[in-house]
This record gives sequence, C-alpha cells and structure tokens, in this order.
Amino acid sequence: MTQIVVFGSANMDLVAYVAKAPQRGETVTGREFRALPGGKGANQAVAAARAGGTVSMIGAVGADAYGTQLRATLEHSGVDTDLLRTAEGPSGIAHIVVDDEGGNAIVVIPGANGTVTSLAPGDEAVMALADLLLLQLEIPLEGVLAAAEAARRHGVRTVLTLSPVQPLPSGLLAATDLLVPNEHEAAALAGVTDPYEAADALLEQVPEVVVTLGSSGCLYASRGADKITVPAPHVTAVDSTGAGDEFVGSLAVALGEGRPMPEALAWASSAAALSVQRLGASAAMPCRGEIDELAVHEEQEQHE
Ligand code: RIB
Repeated sequence: MTQIVVFGSANMDLVAYVAKAPQRGETVTGREFRALPGGKGANQAVAAARAGGTVSMIGAVGADAYGTQLRATLEHSGVDTDLLRTAEGPSGIAHIVVDDEGGNAIVVIPGANGTVTSLAPGDEAVMALADLLLLQLEIPLEGVLAAAEAARRHGVRTVLTLSPVQPLPSGLLAATDLLVPNEHEAAALAGVTDPYEAADALLEQVPEVVVTLGSSGCLYASRGADKITVPAPHVTAVDSTGAGDEFVGSLAVALGEGRPMPEALAWASSAAALSVQRLGASAAMPCRGEIDELAVHEEQEQHE
C-alpha cells in the first residue's frame, strides 16, 4: 500500500448553505448550517486513506471539543494520528459559505495550525519511510519548508497544493516534485492567466505541475514532455469544498501504486467528482470502491 504522510492543517468547517452568497453590506437568510471536519491537510489525509493509502497526519488541533472531533474523524477514516499534536488554545476554524451551484467562499482562522512551525521529534523518521509527502499552505510556511526539506533529504516525493496562494519562501519550490495549483493559483504564481502558459512558467521551478480546472478537468505538464489534459466526469455539484483535496489525496495513492500519470489523473478526477456531489469536505470523501466504479464507467463512456 502507498505510504503517505500529510503535513498540514485541520479545521472545523462552519458552513452556511445559502442560495446566493451575500455581497458586502448585504444580509441574507441561509438554508442550513453544519459544523463539519475539514482543513486542507486533514481532507487530503482522509481522502488518501479512504482511497486505499496508509496515511499519517502531522499537524495540530486545539485543546477543545473541535480538536477531539477532528482527531476522531481522521482516526475513523484509518489515518494514523500519533504525530498529530494537541496545541494550547482553539482548533483551526474555517467559515464557509456554499451557494446553490456548489461554489464556496472561505475564511480560515488558523488557531492550532499556526503552531506548526517546525518538525517535532519523530516527524522526520516517519516521513523518511513514506512514498509521498503531501503539503499545503495553511500552516506557517516555515513548517511547510522544514517538512519539504526533510522529505528531500530522504528522497520522498513531495506534492505541494498551492493553496491558499501566497508568496513562497525561497527553497520551497526547489524541494517540491509535483505542484498542484488551481488555474487561479497558477496564474497568481506564474503571472500569466492562460493555464498552459502558467504551467510552462511553473515548470522552470518544479519538474511536474498539475493545474486543476474545476469541472473542466485538469492539465498535466512535465519538463520535456507533451502536456496532458484529462476531462472531469459530468456531475451536478452541491458542495465543491475539499474537491481539490480529494483530487490530491487520491492522486497520491494512485501515483504511489505506480500507475501511469494519465490513469492516476483520471482516477483522481473521478474521486473529486464524487466528493462534490455530497455536503462537506472530509465528510464527502469517497471510498476506493466508489472511485473505481466511476473511473471504469468514465473510461467506458470515452471509448463509446
Ligand atoms: O480545501 C477545503 C478546505 O479549505 C476546507 O475544508 C476548509 O477548512 C479550508 O481549509
């Protein structure tokens, strides 16, 4: 089984479901409220575990009821939380508005995630045994960099989700093997809006890039090879929160199993398509059997 370490955030997502998100100065009445487990790191850990990986989560939850719930969610999905710290103070929180088209707007308050500034004893030893290390940008960047450099020391493949996009410390991209931005994040980092041109620009800094394109699928680029585009299954989204995390978590499992990149991307696209049809982030992550079923169906459709 693919061994995956996730070094990143865990948040409790406080989600308002509403027909249309309010504009500045506007008050609207929502339809429903839910408190659901999330955070880009924890979402990727749950996604990878449900997709069939052996996963360890490193990060921090707060010493509060949300922290207990977040840890339990990871454990119920089979994620090893031995290295998940409990920090003083509150857990990370994400205030999320999801509209009737499944789109969202998110404000994150880091809480305990803000304490993950470095590796703790034991972290590097677990990372050294991994096939892949998954990183995002919701913990302090010095922590992200320390983890990426540790993975580099041990020849572990690093996958960096470029979200939330922000200026990066020097050395982080140099320690990244596969960069995964969405088209907006790719444009912000590369300084060009066209995803193909952005991917070319990013390849000057990392060897492989996957630009996710929402319902249009994804674009894969690597140095010295033709670009690959993979369509996404056509589905009706009710909540796209965490779809990018599902994509990365399941992609990591497929790559760790040695599957060719086009097949791994198609499988991850099926996984993400399943997740957007359910409410929540971690709560919406599909199991391996469901992903296999949709991926096979999609492959048959394409050959008809
Ligand atoms: O990527 C989705 C996640 O972003 C949510 O679960 C929320 O916690 C924010 O971190």
